[in-house]
Amino acid sequence: MKPSPLTFTDGVVTIRKFRRNDKFRMAEIANNEKVAVNLRDAFPSPYSVEDAQKFISMCLGQEPYQVFAIEYQGEYVGNVGLHRQNDVYRKTAELGYFIGEAYWHKGITPRAVNLICEYGFRELDVIKIFSGVFSFNTASQRVLEKCGFEREAVLKNAVIKNGKIWDEIRYAKHFSPLAGS
Ligand SMILES: CC(C)(COP(=O)(O)OP(=O)(O)OC[C@H]1O[C@@H](n2cnc3c(N)ncnc32)[C@H](O)[C@@H]1OP(=O)(O)O)[C@@H](O)C(=O)NCCC(=O)NCCS
Repeated sequence: MKPSPLTFTDGVVTIRKFRRNDKFRMAEIANNEKVAVNLRDAFPSPYSVEDAQKFISMCLGQEPYQVFAIEYQGEYVGNVGLHRQNDVYRKTAELGYFIGEAYWHKGITPRAVNLICEYGFRELDVIKIFSGVFSFNTASQRVLEKCGFEREAVLKNAVIKNGKIWDEIRYAKHFSPLAGS
């Protein structure tokens, strides 16, 4: 069967366009303080099915398409997305992701990140993809290192999360035509 457009796989992990009924699993997975603590306060916590529904609608309305469902063993397990920047930063996209706690530590996210970076450099006309990670989130820093991102900067005391101040570590990956990425 021919894969539908906007589906990319490395044989183990697949990223694909959202389906409306992803909202149920998305809400279950996202409604977890251990996920939310690593993300901006704009990420709802608690996280409802209505929150997931609104998010999916927003993503499905974007042109070009930028946020994907992550699938592992045929199941929706999380999200990975790019957010193309504006103005003089328009050749840059911000990367974000989360997966459900039950799927952590299986090497799923690095595979999803590699797939979306290939898509971003190929389809979104960007030359740089960056992510900002709270300093305590060593698992996410490892994900980016394993995907060939460079630790580009430490933004001192940039973040307040749950009443505490943290540094933000900026990681970036650059389009490198000679490397074929
Ligand atoms: C951070 C996150 C995306 C990691 O995804 P993942 O698919 O579990 O990533 P990996 O399996 O590659 O593991 C990443 C790192 O976690 C740590 N880790 C792995 N297994 C571990 C274990 N059993 N115990 C503790 N830490 C472990 C390791 O540092 C690992 O790197 P390594 O493979 O070099 O040892 C996931 O934990 C998550 O969704 N967290 C909540 C949301 C979030 O933090 N999003 C990113 C915001 S910047």
